[in-house]
Amino acid sequence: MSTQTDKVRRVTVPQIRARKRGEPIVSLTSYHAHTAAIVDAHADFILVGDSLGMVMHGMESTVSVSLDLMITHGKAVVRGTKQALVVVDMPFGTYEESPGIAFRNAATIMKETGCGAVKLEGGARMAETIRFLTERGIPVMAHIGLTPQSSHIMGGFKTQGRDAESWAGHIADAEAVAEAGAFAVVLEGMVEPLAAKITEKVDIPTIGIGASAECDGQILVLEDMLGMNPWTPKFVRVYAEIGPLIGQAVERYAADVKSRAFPGEDETYS
Ligand code: KIV
Repeated sequence: MSTQTDKVRRVTVPQIRARKRGEPIVSLTSYHAHTAAIVDAHADFILVGDSLGMVMHGMESTVSVSLDLMITHGKAVVRGTKQALVVVDMPFGTYEESPGIAFRNAATIMKETGCGAVKLEGGARMAETIRFLTERGIPVMAHIGLTPQSSHIMGGFKTQGRDAESWAGHIADAEAVAEAGAFAVVLEGMVEPLAAKITEKVDIPTIGIGASAECDGQILVLEDMLGMNPWTPKFVRVYAEIGPLIGQAVERYAADVKSRAFPGEDETYS
């Protein structure tokens, strides 16, 4: 019989925050209950990223992702997990307009999904909003560097910080979100020396994606590291080629069906 004391406690926001310069933080994205349950055993936090627009729904970019979609997938991931902190992305158009609108939408995400924090993109320009949310009980993970929701402005997905003149802006972004109360900051698509400089300067954990091993933790899109996406960024190490495995399994299944080598009625449902 299970008791209260058997309960696995989820990783908390302060525990992630306290890992600055400590044991590296392990995180992955996940969008549904079953994969989240597998990731849960190994990750400190799981991000329900708006990359789900492309990975799960075949969208062109994250710009089309809606609040409802994030809530649907956020609920599934919370249901499938016991241990990791679950962070849900705020989709484009749900937080930029004003701190008040951001609060309303972030509160809806937290109430409906049961997640422990939200993530939003933007540095200094989002500092006021980050402060507004954190002062009202909503933990915020920030996301700077390459910010996919602004890819139309940025002219695509380009590594940030190749020119030293741009460093001051990225460093100011990191300092602004840390000062505003973000508990961690994702550094996406950034040259290593800039990621190292930001990691050294700010007192919140930096979580890198395509930003080198200098960060306090790392995140990858699960389907990228499982070899399931048709295109994978160059920096991603593929740990298993699940895509081709699925193709082989489906091919064998199709062959079984066509040759009628398929279980009969008496063999169904054990
Ligand atoms: O949406 C996402 O998956 C993300 C990660 C790439 C950090 O924001």
